Amino acid sequence: MRDNQPAAGAASEVTLEDLRLDRPHSARMYDHFLGGKTNYEADREAAARAVTVYPGIVVLARENRAFMHRATRMLAEHGIRQFLDIGTGIPTRPNLHEVAQGVGPESRVVYVDNDPLVLVHAQALLDSSPEGRTAYIRADANQPEQILSAPELTATLDLSRPVALSLNAIVHFLPDERDPHGLIGRLLDALPSGSALQMSHATPDFDPEATARAVEIYRASGTPAQVRTKQEVERFFAGLDLVEPGIEVAHRWRPDTPEGSARETPTDAEVSLWVGVAFKP
Ligand SMILES: C[S@@+](CC[C@H](N)C(=O)[O-])C[C@H]1O[C@@H](n2cnc3c(N)ncnc32)[C@H](O)[C@@H]1O
Repeated sequence: MRDNQPAAGAASEVTLEDLRLDRPHSARMYDHFLGGKTNYEADREAAARAVTVYPGIVVLARENRAFMHRATRMLAEHGIRQFLDIGTGIPTRPNLHEVAQGVGPESRVVYVDNDPLVLVHAQALLDSSPEGRTAYIRADANQPEQILSAPELTATLDLSRPVALSLNAIVHFLPDERDPHGLIGRLLDALPSGSALQMSHATPDFDPEATARAVEIYRASGTPAQVRTKQEVERFFAGLDLVEPGIEVAHRWRPDTPEGSARETPTDAEVSLWVGVAFKP
């Protein structure tokens, strides 16, 4: 029998009104960029506008997901068996727990997202290996204490043992006025030495005009967004030990297909994502 916790807040409690299908949503736009089917007309229209101003955004989504796979595998190979993934997104196989449990079947993963539609589809995230365990919490990254004290989290993760905090393609939805450094600091403070931070973050460094126009499309649809320079992204890792190659463009971070191989190498401007993995000393 599976040993999973039910998702916090039952999916049946989500009403059509909660879903706001008439307005574009970042999770559903991202699902569309990845070729998924969990998106609606308003999402596809906004996604099409974003592609017009920044055609690379589809490459960004694909390379972001590929980075999550490589970084999670690396952390699991390093021995990490607990993951806290905030800003999970609509389930897309392989999900983070499938990658982690592919290395360590006993791995435990807690997923967090504030989009009610992710909750509706959370069952796919609760499909843990029999040896491991997964849980889903509908919560906001702006409230780290609520996440850390959620019964689903405390029943799944042992916070006295190392945890990898995964913040992939979410921190650019936390503008400075939300104090993302303070939020991430409060999460990391709750984790012991040997824990890790895995992050990907959109940047204006390679194509400032295109990324600024894409940010405007997100903001106009009600999603606060802020792209950040390499130096700004580096600040999120202050006090942590970055693993090689440090902060890199997503597709250059420990690529598993050598440059010059059959796979087409994207440009830095298309990818426009800084990524990094670091351990807490
Ligand atoms: C672009 S998707 C990234 C999905 C996944 N982490 C990945 O990298 O493939 C961003 C996700 O962050 C979620 N999100 C945005 N702001 C959030 C917040 N304040 N709290 C929780 N989740 C948030 C969105 O609902 C969406 O599912």
